[in-house]
Amino acid sequence: MRDFESKDGVMMFGGMPVTEIADRFGTPVYATDERRLRENYRNIRDAFARHIDTRIHYACKANTNIALLAILAQEGSGIDAVSVGEVMTCLKAGFRPEDIMYTGVNVSDAELKAVTDLGVMINVDSFSELERLAAINRDLPISFRVTPGVGSGHSAKVTTGHEGSKFGIPKERIVEAYLRARDLGFDIKGIHAHIGSGGQRTEPFTDSLEILIDITNRLAEKGIDLEFIDIGGGIGVPYRPNEEEMDVDGLGACLADMVKEETGVKTLILEPGRYIVCDTTVLLTRCVDMKDAGAKKYVGVDAGFNTLIRPAMYDSYHHAAVGNRFGKACTSKYDIVGPICESGDCLAHDRALPDPREGDVIVIYNAGAYGFSMSGNYNSRPLCREVLVSDGEAELIREAESVEEQWRHQRIPERLLR
Ligand code: LLP
Repeated sequence: MRDFESKDGVMMFGGMPVTEIADRFGTPVYATDERRLRENYRNIRDAFARHIDTRIHYACKANTNIALLAILAQEGSGIDAVSVGEVMTCLKAGFRPEDIMYTGVNVSDAELKAVTDLGVMINVDSFSELERLAAINRDLPISFRVTPGVGSGHSAKVTTGHEGSKFGIPKERIVEAYLRARDLGFDIKGIHAHIGSGGQRTEPFTDSLEILIDITNRLAEKGIDLEFIDIGGGIGVPYRPNEEEMDVDGLGACLADMVKEETGVKTLILEPGRYIVCDTTVLLTRCVDMKDAGAKKYVGVDAGFNTLIRPAMYDSYHHAAVGNRFGKACTSKYDIVGPICESGDCLAHDRALPDPREGDVIVIYNAGAYGFSMSGNYNSRPLCREVLVSDGEAELIREAESVEEQWRHQRIPERLLR
């Protein structure tokens, strides 16, 4: 897990004391370190690009803030998008249509039309989608998503590549799909599989790639030569102290060698989301209410599962620290709980903390992936701010939503007004 420096007992983030960020912008607030974002992107790119022609398609579902997307566009990244909204957001942030691949599941005709009108490549998920796409637009390149029968992930909820999954075309029928696409006149570019999210082992990636390679070679025998193999995303990151990082250099070397030695394919694509953004961002939330409930001690904060849903949804561990008493000796164990009216609204269970008090800034680590992007309006709570911290300077990259903005698309029928 990423470490942070302390200055006069205050945690430093991107060259700024977290207390200054919280005081200036208010809480809750997601703060992202630009330098770390660029470093993570370059790390994962280089781990693969050292060995083979590589394209990184950042899985923007992890974090679609347009300032962060603009940074990744500057870095030369491509995009894995799953909705018209994500495609439009990436175009707005400076990506070109040809940088974007759309990988949807259960895609409607309206969505296929909208996405192809925007000129992005489609990664087809089913036989039905292929036929419907053929009726809508055959002029854009395509690839196929295969269900490799290999799954991996931090939770069953995010494991996708296993046999019987709702995602992709089963490996037993995939050649048939390619032959049909050729008959329909499509320009076929590649093959794709995504095994799941947050896996920490190398074998599921190599097992899945082995399947993709076998299919690629069978297609070549039938005269269909692919330009790329896309191994999806899913590279896990350490969330707990002392947890090891995955060896991405080793993974890059191994997967690239397999492609080079066993196929004629020139380009490897990967779609990391979490790896690129997770540890770039902390969620700063303020302690507003301390409670000793006898059996438990609570640190009541102003962020709940409306702001960060991962602990409630997947039982995910997010490390937490008291930003203004950073590195001090811990006194007792506490649950860190938010303002949502459900007992499941707990950001962290049984954490040893250094005498937390009302007014303290509580820092929730590893909040950059699936943090803001999964936040919502439950309990009519507005979406929170985001700031970008760059070498000691902070800039607002998302205003806080207002309550009035939550009403903007609602209507009260005339007859109910008096
Ligand atoms: N490619 C495809 C086709 C995907 O479906 C995903 C993630 C990725 C790439 C990126 O996976 P990553 O590198 O970020 O692991 N909300 C969950 C994670 C859901 C991931 C969904 N798909 C969480 O908070 O853990």
